[in-house]
Amino acid sequence: MAGIYLHIPFCKGKCAYCDFYSVGNIKLKKDFVKTICKEIELQKEYLRSEPIQTIYFGGGTPSLLSVQELEEIINRIIKYFNVEKNNEITVEANPDDLTKEYLNGIKEVGVNRLSIGIQSFNNNDLLRMKRKHSVRQAIRSVRYAQEQGFKNISIDLIYGLPDLSLQKWEENIEQALNLNVQHISAYHLTIEPKTLFYKYYRNNSFVPPSEDESLDQLKKLIEKTEQKGFLHYEISNFAKDGFLSLHNTNYWMGVKYLGLGPSAHSYNLTSRQWNIQNLRGYIDEIFKGKIPFEEENLSPNEKFNDYLITSLRTMWGINTKKIEHEHGINFKTHFEEKSDNFLKANFLSKSGNNYKLTKKGMFISDHIILSFLND
Ligand SMILES: C[S@@+](CC[C@H](N)C(=O)[O-])C[C@H]1O[C@@H](n2cnc3c(N)ncnc32)[C@H](O)[C@@H]1O
Ligand code: SF4
Repeated sequence: MAGIYLHIPFCKGKCAYCDFYSVGNIKLKKDFVKTICKEIELQKEYLRSEPIQTIYFGGGTPSLLSVQELEEIINRIIKYFNVEKNNEITVEANPDDLTKEYLNGIKEVGVNRLSIGIQSFNNNDLLRMKRKHSVRQAIRSVRYAQEQGFKNISIDLIYGLPDLSLQKWEENIEQALNLNVQHISAYHLTIEPKTLFYKYYRNNSFVPPSEDESLDQLKKLIEKTEQKGFLHYEISNFAKDGFLSLHNTNYWMGVKYLGLGPSAHSYNLTSRQWNIQNLRGYIDEIFKGKIPFEEENLSPNEKFNDYLITSLRTMWGINTKKIEHEHGINFKTHFEEKSDNFLKANFLSKSGNNYKLTKKGMFISDHIILSFLND
C-alpha cells in the first residue's frame, strides 16, 4: 500500500502566511503538466508496484489545473501505477476556482475528496491574509461541491491570527460546523520566514496571540467539534466517522509515498528524497530525462525520530512494542525513560504498550515531541 502526492506549484498570488513553493503566474502551466506526466513515467519503479490507495493533489493551487489537465495526470498515474479501485483522490482547492461546472468535471474524472482552503469566515481576516476570495464565495463553494455530489469535503481554517478574539474564533468554528462538511483541518498560524506576516512581525506591526490565547482557541475547537461528533484524530485534524484523510493517515503511519512536482518529497522506508524547488529547473531537467532531486538515507535515529514526530500527534499514539520491533530495544528504553515525567504530569496516558498525548499534552505537543527526539 502506498500514496502519491503531486505538487501543483501555481498560485494567483502569495498569501501572507504561506511558504509552500509556488509561482505567481501560470505561464508555464502547460509545460508543467507535460513534465509531471513525464515524471510519473520516470518514477514508475519507485513504489515497486505497491497498490496505490491515495492520490493527493496539493500545492500551490491544484484547482488552477483544468479538468482536462487533471484527467491527463490521473490517467497517466493509472497507466503506470497499480491504483486501487477503492481509492481516495483529493484535490486541494481554493474557493474562488470552484464553479459548478468545474466541480462536476473533476468529479467525473475521479476526484472523490476536496480540501477547500477557506482559512477564515471573516472578510477582514481574509483580506489581511491576502486571500483572493470572500466569505460568501467560500460558503458558496462548499454548497456547490455538495450539490455536485461530493460526499467527502474538508475545509482548512487557520487560528492563532493576530486580533482573533476567542469569540471571533468561536464564530468561525460555528460557521464551519454549519456547513455540514465531513472533515476540518484547523492549523495554528506559523509565522514562516520570507512571508509577509514575518515582515509585519519583525517590524512589530503584527502581534501574535499569547500562548494562553492560542490554547484557549484550540480548546474551543476541540470542544465544539467534539459536540458535533467529530473525531479529533490528529492535532490539527477532525473528521466525522469514516472520513479521516486516508492519505495523511497513511503518511502518519509511515506508509511509503511518492512525491511528484517541484519541492515534492518522497519516502520509501529507507530514504527520503525531495525534488528541487524551482519550476523552470524542474521542467528543464525532466525534459532531459533526469529527475532533479536530493536524497538522504535515514539513520536509525532519524527513523525513530520520524516515527515519534508523526505518531505522537495522532489519536493512535506510540507503541513501544513497535519501537522495539522496528527500531530496537535501546530506543524503547529511551522512550520509556523519557515518558515517565510526562505520564506523572498527565501530559501522556498509557494503556498497555500504547502511549498517547492527553488533552493537556496536546497543548504542548511540540515541547513533548522535542524532548523525546534522539540526537
Ligand atoms: C498547501 S496549503 C494549499 C491550499 C490551497 N492552495 C489554499 O490556499 O487553500 C494547505 C493549507 O496549509 C495551511 N497553511 C499554509 N501555511 C500556513 C501557515 N503558515 N500557518 C498555518 N497554516 C498554514 C492553510 O490552511 C492551507 O489551506
Ligand atoms: S495558501 Fe494556498 S493559495 Fe495561498 S499562497 Fe499558499 S498555496 Fe498559494
